[in-house]
Parts: sequence; C-alpha cells; structure tokens
Amino acid sequence: MDYNKLFAEEIAGKLDGSMSVESIMGLVEKPKFEGQGDLAFPCFSLAKTQGKAPHIIAGELAERITHPVFERVAAAGPYVNCFLKKSVVSNETLETILEVQADYGGSNIGQGKNITIDFSSPNIAKPFSMGHLRSTVIGNSLAKIVEKVGYKAVGINHLGDWGTQFGKLIVAYKKWGDEAAVKENPIPELLALYIKFHQEAEGDPGLEDEARKWFWRLENGDGEAEKLWTWFKEESLQEFSKIYELLEVDIDSYAGEAFYNDKMAATIELLKTNDLLTESQGAEVVDLTDEGLPPFLIRKSDGATLYGTRDLTAALYRKEHYQFAKSLYVVGQEQTLHFRQLKLTLKKMGFDWSDEMDHISFGFILKDGKKMSTRKGKVVLLDQVLKEVIELAEKNIEERNPALANKAETAQMVGVGAVIFHDLKTERQNNVEFSLEAMLRFEGVTGPYVQYTHARACSILRKSGMAPDGLAPVGLEDVHSWEVIKDLLAFPETIHKSFEQSEPSVIARFAIELAQDFNKYYGHVKVLEDDKQLEGRLALVFAVTVVLKESLRLLGIHAPVEM
Ligand code: ARG
Repeated sequence: MDYNKLFAEEIAGKLDGSMSVESIMGLVEKPKFEGQGDLAFPCFSLAKTQGKAPHIIAGELAERITHPVFERVAAAGPYVNCFLKKSVVSNETLETILEVQADYGGSNIGQGKNITIDFSSPNIAKPFSMGHLRSTVIGNSLAKIVEKVGYKAVGINHLGDWGTQFGKLIVAYKKWGDEAAVKENPIPELLALYIKFHQEAEGDPGLEDEARKWFWRLENGDGEAEKLWTWFKEESLQEFSKIYELLEVDIDSYAGEAFYNDKMAATIELLKTNDLLTESQGAEVVDLTDEGLPPFLIRKSDGATLYGTRDLTAALYRKEHYQFAKSLYVVGQEQTLHFRQLKLTLKKMGFDWSDEMDHISFGFILKDGKKMSTRKGKVVLLDQVLKEVIELAEKNIEERNPALANKAETAQMVGVGAVIFHDLKTERQNNVEFSLEAMLRFEGVTGPYVQYTHARACSILRKSGMAPDGLAPVGLEDVHSWEVIKDLLAFPETIHKSFEQSEPSVIARFAIELAQDFNKYYGHVKVLEDDKQLEGRLALVFAVTVVLKESLRLLGIHAPVEM
C-alpha cells in the first residue's frame, strides 16, 4: 500500500482539482521531528495560488481530511501532518511481504523492454583494474535493479580487444616474447611486453612503424596477426573469468570492440551521407565546435579506426539489435567527454534515441587517499585481492563461530559481499577508499553487518520453531516495531529511486538503516516471549529477512542464513 499516494489523493480531493495527485506526492515529505507524524504536506505553493497564509490553509485541510488508515491529521504551522494508524499499516505491510515475499518492492514500469548495460569492459592483455571492478559491481547491481522494475537487462562486456596497441603487442611478442611464460602468467607477461615496447620505442622509432603495420595486417585479416590476437584474448578472458566467477557476475554479451570491425564501414558511410565528416590534420572527425567540444575522432590519417568509431557503431548496433528503451554505460568519470561526444554525434546524425543513452560514471578507488595505479611492472591482480578478502573473512568466522557448518562457502559470501558492499554504499560519483580491514567489520556500514543481521533474524525464526509461511500479523503498534515497519514500507520507493538515479547506494543505505532499526528492535523487545503477540513479532522478523535478503540480492550479494 502506498500511503503517500493515499494521503495525496485525500488532499487532492479537498482541493477541487487545483492540484494533481502527482504534484502533491512530489511535495509530501517525512516530518523532520518525532511527534510530527508520518507524512507531512507543506502548504507554501497553495498559499501562492489561493492567496492565503499557508498555516490557514494547513488548518483548513487538516480539519477536513479523514480516512480509516489515518489515526489523526493535524496542522502544525504551514504543514498538514498525518499520523498513520500503526496497527493497520503494520498489518497491511507484513501481510503483503508475507504473501509476495521476494517480489516485494517490484513493479512493472519497464514492461519487459530492454535496457542495455555496458559494464565491466576490461582491456585484453592488461590487468583488470580497480576501475573495472567498480564498473562490474555497479553494472551488475543495476542489471538486477532494472529487472526488479520490470525491464529486461542486457549486460554487455564491451571488451577492449581492438586498437593500435595490439600492433605493438604483436611486435613485442615476436621480438621478446616467450610462449610458456605467457601461458604461465598471461596478464603480467603481456603487460610487461607492452611496457617494454614503449621503452624500446623511445630509442627506436622504427618500432612504431612496425606496430602500425602489424595492426594494419590485423585489421585486414592476416592469419598470423589474427592467431596471436586470438590467443592473447583467450588467455586474458580466462583470467577475467576467475574474477567474474568469484563475484558471480554473468554478462549476456561479450561483443567487444573487435566485434564491430566489419560494421564500421557502414557507420562511416552514414556519417558521410549526413555530411558530418570533416578533415582535420589528415584525420576524419566529426566537428562539435558548435557544442563547444573537441572533434570526435573517427578515422586516423592511416585509415585506422578508433575507440569512438567502435562506440558509435556499437550504439547503432545495440539500438537495432536490442531496441533498447535505455542504454547505460557504466564507465569511469574520466570518459565523460567521450560519452558526450558520442551522444552528440548520434544526435547530429538524427538519432533522437541518443537521449536515452546514459553515461553512468563513477569515481576512483583510492589507496591511502591516492589513486591506485598499476605502477610500471607491478600488477595488482584482482582475483588475488579477492582471495585474500575471502581468507580474512574465513579467519573472522573461525573466531566468531567455529562450529559453523559450511565455513568456506560462507566466507566466500562474506568476503565478496564485503568488497561489493564497500563499493556500493557510497554514491557512485564519489571516490572509494580501498581498505580490507574496514570492509570486513561486522559493525558499522558494511556488508558483513547487513549479512550478520539477516543471519541473526533467521536464527530467531529457527529458534521459534514456527514455519514463517503460516504466520499472521497481529496489529503491532509499539514504537520499536513501528520504526522497522516504516523501513519495510519504504522499500518499494527505495528501489524506484535507485532505479531513477541508477544509484545502487540508495539500496545499500536502506539496507543499513533497516539492519540498524531491526537491531534496535531486537535490543528492546523480547521477540520469542510466549504471549499473544508472538506470532506478529515473528511475522515482522520474517519480513525483515525477506527484505534484507532482497536488498542484498539487488546489490549482487548473498545473504547466508547462518554465519
Ligand atoms: N575498455 C574501456 C576501458 O577500459 C572501457 C569501455 C567502456 N565501454 C564503452 N562502450 N566504451 O577504458
């Protein structure tokens, strides 16, 4: 039940159509102080149209609004405050959750339409960076969130598997590479070769020419070039898949940059027919000076295509292939200009659907306040980092609950969950400080805290010996349960907000608040006391497990029942 809407409808009914339910809903807020009720409607905008003081209007409205679900409606200055009838609201809320369980909070605003989500997208032969980790975690969560509101998510791993750097890599491998070493340790070896190429090229400019030639051969289907490229790609993907496995991330399409090779000619043709290609220092570009942006590079003087050419082609392909209602690109802040250029170019081509393309940008992962970079030769291998977190989690569990049955499995859920939650609890535009120790705390704003709260609630249910499915609410109306009920009630709008803003942190913060309020409840109320309200309290506990678990699922995190 949407009580905001109910309240807005009641107000609208008293205003003779001078304000729509939607615009009233936009104004309804949560009162800032306790004792002011559950919903508040400010009368300032009505004061303008009615030419009366806001507190007079509030008084008049408050007097006329009644509803069986409203305990009391009262004016407080310029506000109409509404007090909900706790017993009714808690029954309705718990009944709904008990009935629909994991479907609670979902909607069908997407009506099955596609949203493409370009995420993760690491680069072949390079380490999977912290930035790619952020993209993976945010994109994976967004995929679950859009599905929750009725869209179909199409995850796309736009692999960086094309570009002049592969010419360099082939030259370096042919000169200095060692097959066994690459097989043994693919990413560090390939990265080392790439770095060596740049070092050597400083003294020997001929290498750059050679690299260009090899990239040209690759683009033109040369057998040897293709064989090496395919091998580099396979070795890299195998490494990346370890990370995806640990994070349990599935991506629908692995159509990376190379996928668009045979499709770019058509894009360039289309740009030409639209008279959008201009020459700049021998290269072909789309001029964007009228928008105050630098030109979008389409083709270099040697005919080679670029990152932008492939993104342009990919956008056209995705629109045609998936008929997306929206197209999201989960990519770091540093590519903001690129995505503005991409969208503007499409707009100039006459594709208004480019308005539905969104760059979901995010900040950096920092270590001790500094950007974590792959310093020359030193590679942070992310699957190693994840393994380390899982080991630490296992140690934690060993100390806290040595008798736990499936420790290894739980440690994986907790360790990985800690990493994911640590990222998603912050608004994505902010930077994230990477600290294993902070992530794994069982108290505070962490994944393990939410998971632990969920497990504790599950254990209460187990102890009760009652089957959750048969429970019936009993009209709880005490203040402690009311705080929890209000959180549960807010879950649908929380999901909606996180969808609208493409912001998983909205759900992460909700989960923390619910966990905190539940722990307070648990501290004040004897849940398992055998009295008339026992079943109602257990219904509340069960509802909390459902909503915590679902919140975590939307973030891409498991909720163990014991830990
Ligand atoms: N591979 C790129 C990088 O690591 C990210 C690709 C993002 N997606 C895209 N469609 N451009 O920087």
